[in-house]
Amino acid sequence: MSNVVVIDHPLVQHKLTLMRRKEASTAEFRQLLREIATLLAYEVTRDLPLETTKIETPLAKIDAPTLSSKKLCLISILRAGNGLLDGMLDLIPSARVGHVGLYRDPHTLEAVEYYCKLPLDIGERLAVVLDPMLATGHSAVAALDRIKDRGAQAIKFVCLVAAPEGIKTLQEAHPDVPIYAAAIDSHLNDHGYIVPGLGDAGDRLFGTK
Ligand code: URA
Repeated sequence: MSNVVVIDHPLVQHKLTLMRRKEASTAEFRQLLREIATLLAYEVTRDLPLETTKIETPLAKIDAPTLSSKKLCLISILRAGNGLLDGMLDLIPSARVGHVGLYRDPHTLEAVEYYCKLPLDIGERLAVVLDPMLATGHSAVAALDRIKDRGAQAIKFVCLVAAPEGIKTLQEAHPDVPIYAAAIDSHLNDHGYIVPGLGDAGDRLFGTK
């Protein structure tokens, strides 16, 4: 699959396995998601441009690498995307944060926006869009439609577990957006859940079931 990066780092894979277990507690699930998010942030920022700055160590003057002015915005697709925010912010504390909330209209089955707050200068930032589960891909596509409408140009999509169906849908609608995932699972079941997956990420994260 082109434009899909599977992050197969052993720490990510180990922590994901711990999260998938049905007996993982809410606290364990939340903590593991936070830790994996930090590792995903490391991968998703791998190609950020660098420039050199003159600094002085106690021993010498050097031209040392620093991040160039490319600014970031992490965008959580509510609500499960929030579970990836803190771990990423641990590594990128100055990133801005946006939120997009969508629900599915039961009659039209269209995604309806109920919340969208992004920085005004989103067009000048790398937008890193977060949702742990890429299942059907419909909410990811709808969220990216809105984020692009607000001016975002450089976008990456980060999830934990992706279904092949969701990857296909997202790539067809937004071929310019690379997808980062810790795992690509087998398929979706009749209820739109990823199999084997990890269940409902929002419920497991917030303990609402
Ligand atoms: N959302 C989830 O939280 N889990 C799935 O398996 C699919 C969508």
